[in-house]
Amino acid sequence: MTTPDADQVARDLTSARARTTWLTDLDESELRAQHSPIMSPLVWDLAHVAQQEELWLLRGGVADRPGLLPPHVESLYDAFQHSRADRPSLPLMPPVEARRYGHEVRGRVLDLLERSDDVFPFAMVAQHEEQHDETMLATLQLRAGAAVLLPRAPLPAGRRVPRDAVTVPGGEVVIGVDAAAEPGSLDNERPAHAVDVPGFRIGRVPVTNAEWAGFVADGGYDQPRWWSARGWQHRLEAALERPMSWHGDGTRTRFGVTEDVPPDEPVQHVTFFEAEAYAAWAGARLPTELEWEKACVWDPALGRRRRWPWGDERPSDAVTNLGGGALRPAEVGAYPGGASAYGVEQMIGDVWEWTSSDLTPWPGFTTMLYADYTAPFFGGDFKILRGGAWATATATVRPSFRNWDHPYRRQIFTGLRLAWDL
Ligand code: AVJ
Ligand code: FE
Repeated sequence: MTTPDADQVARDLTSARARTTWLTDLDESELRAQHSPIMSPLVWDLAHVAQQEELWLLRGGVADRPGLLPPHVESLYDAFQHSRADRPSLPLMPPVEARRYGHEVRGRVLDLLERSDDVFPFAMVAQHEEQHDETMLATLQLRAGAAVLLPRAPLPAGRRVPRDAVTVPGGEVVIGVDAAAEPGSLDNERPAHAVDVPGFRIGRVPVTNAEWAGFVADGGYDQPRWWSARGWQHRLEAALERPMSWHGDGTRTRFGVTEDVPPDEPVQHVTFFEAEAYAAWAGARLPTELEWEKACVWDPALGRRRRWPWGDERPSDAVTNLGGGALRPAEVGAYPGGASAYGVEQMIGDVWEWTSSDLTPWPGFTTMLYADYTAPFFGGDFKILRGGAWATATATVRPSFRNWDHPYRRQIFTGLRLAWDL
C-alpha cells in the first residue's frame, strides 16, 4: 500500500542519495584518504550507509540473516567495531564496488517501500544517510588542498537585526514529540511530555564571528576565569586560540578557500568549552535544551507547539538555510520570516547550537528499530546540540531533533546562542 507519506519518504531517500553522490564524486585516492584522524575516509561512509540500509530495511535489523556482502566485509562497516582512526587501514571496498552495492540495495528498498505499511524504518534510513552526508561535509571542510566543492545555493543577505535578548516567560510547555505528530522523529525525541520551563531570556540571533573576534581580542582565550576547570584544561592541551579554520589575521580557510572571516555570519567550529567561556565573558550562559526547544516551537497565544518556528509549513529557502548547498551559514538577520512565535531567529539551519544539557532520555523513552542509535550514548560525555546547521538536510532536522557530541569536538558545524536568567 502506498500512502502519501511513502511518496515523501521515497523522495527523501532519493535526495539523500543525490547528496551522497555529490559529496563522493571524487578520485579513488581522495575517497580513500584520511583527511583527518577524527574522520572516516569518505569511501567508508559511502558503503556504511548502504550496509545500514540493507540491515534495517532488507534484513529487518537481524544481522545474522544472510546479506549481500560476505560477513567479513560487512563487519568492516560496523561503527561500533572500528574507530574512525582505524578505518583507513581496513580492506574497504573500492568506490566502484561500494556504489554498485548501494545501488543494488536501493533498488530492492524502493520495491519494498511500495509494499510496506510502516514507512518509519525507511524515513529513519533516509535520515541516517543524510547524517553521514553532513559528516562527509565536515570531512571535506577539513581536507587540505584546492577546492573540490563549490557553493551551489545562493543565500539571502543579512539585515540589521537587533542583537538583543528575547524574553520567554515561565510556564508549562510540551517538549518532545509523538510519532503521530512527527512520524519521522527518532527515539530520543519521543515521547511528548509537559515540562514547566522557568522564564529566561535568549539571544534573538546566534553569536557572530565579529562578536567572537571581540572575545579573542579581549584575551578571552588567555583568561581562565571565563572557562570551566575542564574547559581550561582542554584549552591548554589542545592549544585553542580561536575557532577552528581561523588563522589569526582575520582570514580563515574552509573547503579549500581562504577568505576574510565574514563578520556577520554566525560563528562556527567552536567546542562546547569555548562556547561556555564565551558566554561567561559576555555575561550570559548557554541555554538548556528545554529553553531552546520552548523558544523555538512554543506558540504562547495558542498554547501549543508549532511544527516549525515559523509555523506548520515545510522549510524553504525563504525561511532557513539547510541542505549544504550554500557551504556556509547565512548572515544574521537573513531570515525574518523564519522567526519563532517569541521572535527568535535562525534557530533551524545555519549552525548547530550548543546547549548546557547532557544527553539523557526523555521520560518514557523507548528504543526504535535501530536500538543502538541513541541508547548506548546516554550518560556519556556528550552535550546536546540543537537546530541543525547549513549542512543538515531538511529531512533530518526538526525543532525536537537532539544531536549530541563530545564537549571538545568542533569539526562539526557548531555555534551558539546566548541565554540569561530573567
Ligand atoms: C546523531 C550525529 C551523533 O554521527 O554519531 C550516524 C548519527 N549514528 N550513524 C553520529 C549517526 C549512526 C550520530 N549523531
Ligand atoms: Fe552510521
